[in-house]
Amino acid sequence: MDADRRIAALDEVPEDSTLLVTLRPVDPDSVAEGEGDVGADDDGGVEAEAILLRLDDGVSAFRNYCQHWTDVRLDKDEGAFVRNGEVFCQKHGATFEGESGYCNFGPCEGAVLEDVDVTVADGAVYLADDAYEFVRRGPSRRDADAGDSRIDFTGN
Ligand code: FES
Repeated sequence: MDADRRIAALDEVPEDSTLLVTLRPVDPDSVAEGEGDVGADDDGGVEAEAILLRLDDGVSAFRNYCQHWTDVRLDKDEGAFVRNGEVFCQKHGATFEGESGYCNFGPCEGAVLEDVDVTVADGAVYLADDAYEFVRRGPSRRDADAGDSRIDFTGN
């Protein structure tokens, strides 16, 4: 596996929470302004986040925004609330199945989290999604801390 795409050791992905990482979309237009996990780096490049969840037989990953209000992040930098393999949105209580991202309860029931492909090899988790590059562990630089480098989605 490509070392640049190594995200974490498998043991570092918690079983009762999520691991937050920052990605760079290969196509900046593939992310939307209203998605709460989108930020910008110092050069104005677009960043987005993924949350990694431990499953019985591996790891799943999803973009870090709710399907109800897309500006709401599921993991607010301290790990999302996970119970019985399901991720909870703390805003209005939607629950998402950890394997599929399917919302089985709450205001966005029937919706599905945007998945990010990851794979486990040799005890580590790697980004397997060609739509993204791995940037770092931890949050993206969003509104509050992106300053002047905040990307301008309006084209002005
Ligand atoms: S914003 Fe997530 S359930 Fe409403």
